Amino acid sequence: MPKTKKRAKKKPLTARNADRHVLYEESVQDVEHEAGFLARTYEKIRGTPPLSLREDFCGSALLCAEWVKKRGRTATGVDFDAEVLAYGTKRNLSKIGEPGDRVTLLQQDVRAKVPGTFDVTVALNFSYFVFKTREDLRSYFESARRSMKKDGLFFIDLYGGYESFKPMAERRRIKGFSYVWDQSIVDPITGFVTNYIHFEFPDGSRMAKAFTYEWRLWTIPELLEVLKEAGFSKSTVYWEDADANGEGTGRFRPKTSAEQEAAFVSYIISEQ
Ligand SMILES: C[S@@+](CC[C@H](N)C(=O)[O-])C[C@H]1O[C@@H](n2cnc3c(N)ncnc32)[C@H](O)[C@@H]1O
Repeated sequence: MPKTKKRAKKKPLTARNADRHVLYEESVQDVEHEAGFLARTYEKIRGTPPLSLREDFCGSALLCAEWVKKRGRTATGVDFDAEVLAYGTKRNLSKIGEPGDRVTLLQQDVRAKVPGTFDVTVALNFSYFVFKTREDLRSYFESARRSMKKDGLFFIDLYGGYESFKPMAERRRIKGFSYVWDQSIVDPITGFVTNYIHFEFPDGSRMAKAFTYEWRLWTIPELLEVLKEAGFSKSTVYWEDADANGEGTGRFRPKTSAEQEAAFVSYIISEQ
């Protein structure tokens, strides 16, 4: 037997052998950064570090897994899709011995009662855009508010800018594949949008419509109004700082007014 084993060469990714959930995590999520932002911002506002997290629309529970890396923290992930929760358990949680004492997964609608109370509640990657009417959105916000601790904070993100109202596709190269964000339909009367994520591979193969999002494109003023109607006493927009070239720095700060941009992502943080 040879002394050194040859490491199996990683097969190039193709539409046939790739796993769409893995590609999603690699192209869309940066949970280390997100968990850091949530904890830092909470501590800045409240003066103490947050311990408990409620992650709505948790999908593969990657953020829950990242959150509990720090001692004393717990996370509850909520998603109504049994398949994605089973996938997340296998891929992200079982290796850290969870679900167990630190991570709880709930297979249910995010508007149903969630046991316990939380320091930080999040709905990220615009997932709450699935609620297309004001009533449905308000009922979700009320549900999130009900399980917050007195000093809890509710974080949502959103995208906007004048390009968000335009059908267009944007391609980004990631290691071993390309990610395509396809704003396929934008209806100016209903405010409904249909977006797809496609993946493309070096061999020319394509995983078309790997994910489909039928959303309402909510704007910041609408969200602030609905958050107020849902009983939040204060909601603050966190806007991204720009460098000298107008590029985003990844640093978000409270702002009450801003200049319009082609495309932006920002956060709204709400208090009970
Ligand atoms: C875009 S993924 C979000 C994944 C991950 N949390 C992220 O930030 O990228 C949206 C998830 O929301 C779930 N979902 C959609 N509507 C829901 C609802 N009303 N209640 C619970 N889960 C829902 C879907 O099953 C899906 O896993």
